[in-house]
Amino acid sequence: MSNEKKILIAYASRTGNTEKLAQAIAEGVRKVKDITVEVKRAREVTPDEAASADGYAFGSHSAFEYMAGELKTLLEELYHVRDKLSGKPVLLFTTGKGGQVAALASIDKVVGVFNPRWVKPGVAVEGAPGDADKAKAMEMGKKLAEAVKK
Ligand SMILES: Cc1cc2nc3c(=O)[nH]c(=O)nc-3n(C[C@H](O)[C@H](O)[C@H](O)COP(=O)(O)O)c2cc1C
Repeated sequence: MSNEKKILIAYASRTGNTEKLAQAIAEGVRKVKDITVEVKRAREVTPDEAASADGYAFGSHSAFEYMAGELKTLLEELYHVRDKLSGKPVLLFTTGKGGQVAALASIDKVVGVFNPRWVKPGVAVEGAPGDADKAKAMEMGKKLAEAVKK
């Protein structure tokens, strides 16, 4: 059996902006040895799969200044396995048209219930992520992977 640790990146994205951020975070994770990363839409993640991961990045577009329903549904499911998430590193990311910080705060409040080991600051981007945003996301992905290795 492999001892390799796994990071799950779960996101909601309708038009691709947040998905790009998820991919940039994954690229940062891949810079750290002996860590695997899975990037999935929130609706495709099962609670068992999430519980078995060693670290997480949760992301969403802003929808009415809140996280998208798809991510909220996953987090509601994870509430039942929250003891498995407790103490594990978590990074958050969002995009929006001005409401990205509010959306990030909404995820922060819910995930905070799981008693995570935060990897901050979260990444909140206006519109489609540009090169500087992707570089920041990569840097935070690398930090997340380093936190998982500790
Ligand atoms: C239903 C819906 C509601 C939205 N509400 C907000 C909002 O309240 N504040 C905001 O800044 N952006 C809002 N947006 C814009 C998106 O968050 C923004 O365009 C985002 O970058 C899209 O990300 P995506 O390409 O990953 O779907 C909304 C978009 C949709 C589809």
